[in-house]
Amino acid sequence: MYTEQKDNRLKPLKIHCPELEISTEPAVLESHGCDWTRFRTPDATAVVFPHNSDEVAKLVVLARAHQIPLVPSGGRTGLSGGAIADAGEVVVSFDRMRRIIGFNPVDRTLTVEPGVVTQAIQDYANQQNLYYPVSFASEGSSQIGGNIATNAGGIRVLRYGLTRDQVVGLKVIDGRGELIECNSGLVKNASGYDLRHLFIGSEGTLGLIVEATLRLTDPPQPSRVMLLAVSSLDGMMTVFRQFNDAMNLTAFEFLSGAAMSYVRSGHDLPAPMDTETPYYALLEFDCPDTDTEDLALQRFEFCLEDGSVLDGVISQSEAQAADLWRYREGISEAITKYTPYKNDLSVRISEIPGYLRDLDELAQSRYPDFEVLWYGHFGDGNLHMNILKPADMPVEEFESVCGRVNPDVFELTREHNGSISAEHGIGLLKQAYLSYSRSEQDIERMRGIKAVFDPANILNPGKLLG
Ligand code: MLT
Ligand code: ZN
Repeated sequence: MYTEQKDNRLKPLKIHCPELEISTEPAVLESHGCDWTRFRTPDATAVVFPHNSDEVAKLVVLARAHQIPLVPSGGRTGLSGGAIADAGEVVVSFDRMRRIIGFNPVDRTLTVEPGVVTQAIQDYANQQNLYYPVSFASEGSSQIGGNIATNAGGIRVLRYGLTRDQVVGLKVIDGRGELIECNSGLVKNASGYDLRHLFIGSEGTLGLIVEATLRLTDPPQPSRVMLLAVSSLDGMMTVFRQFNDAMNLTAFEFLSGAAMSYVRSGHDLPAPMDTETPYYALLEFDCPDTDTEDLALQRFEFCLEDGSVLDGVISQSEAQAADLWRYREGISEAITKYTPYKNDLSVRISEIPGYLRDLDELAQSRYPDFEVLWYGHFGDGNLHMNILKPADMPVEEFESVCGRVNPDVFELTREHNGSISAEHGIGLLKQAYLSYSRSEQDIERMRGIKAVFDPANILNPGKLLG
């Protein structure tokens, strides 16, 4: 974007919000103008660092008056381009709003500012002998505001639900600069529309989260982790049913043999077992006593006998459990250098084998020259399809080739009544495909809601609804 246009956006901020911390340092513009996706070049006008909700409100009022587009930015670990500023936007970073505001031991709630890192929330909960259950590989740098704005999921959704299920109170500055307080930490509240749930997952297009109250829960029981070599997709479903019926699962993840190879070479991990298979299942379940462990081993034997499982290992200590998790949690980082094109798909659990078979066939015929890796959260129906960029192909060409196949991938997803985004969000990169998951009427309804909260369209324009 031209410098003159950027100046027109910057000047009003400097004149009317002199107290606001503003950076135009090239390194800051670059680091804060993008997320973990590598398909756009950041081009932000400035990055602002409000210190409190009053500053956020003042900023939004000014942005509305001067038509300054704002891009909210947390830990920037998103995978759909929701936090990208590539059109001269002003990035609103919550790096200076990292206070833990208060813990209520009776209500078992924790109130925080949006910039608090997810792992800091987990750690704080642990110190209180409680548990914040939302967990994923980027929890060490992602921020709670971004988790809420994208309704982050991760590995324990099948037991504890999504970020949405943990939020009992929310304060938001909407696109008119008004503070909206939602639900005040209540367990029950039947007083009409629950606006909290509109903001959760709205990807920063309706309001900027300035405070959240989270529900904490009982710490988990002692658990075990199993990594199983599974012979086929139908076998995976057998394993899921066997263990889901018998055990209290906290996670049921899967990875393809190719994903296993990449995570091993990327992190220099040893072979987890002698047998190599097209799929692996990683399970975590409550295991408070030896009877429960015997039950798990019985189910394992059953799966071995019926051929769905060919081999497996079970953790005997927390350190071993953590080692086994690395085969699943380390994949994303291990493949980053291949600039993966990510499709984050979901179907009902019962649909997974048929859907994945169809998708794999499609991928093999339409991407004959690309390597496609599968992994994901089998236990909640979420499949991550990662297409790796050949080293000699320019990023633009790679994105465009993947984009040409997307309609077929998403049409198939629609036929299986699935969603084109399970947990990464629509953001910028999937915006053009929203209609594969939402009807025209739904999109119009969403636009109507957007107009109520952000009439000047200054909050994350171009994302989600376009
Ligand atoms: C995961 O499940 O590993 C994350 O969603 C990140 C990714 O899809 O790469
Ligand atoms: Zn995931």
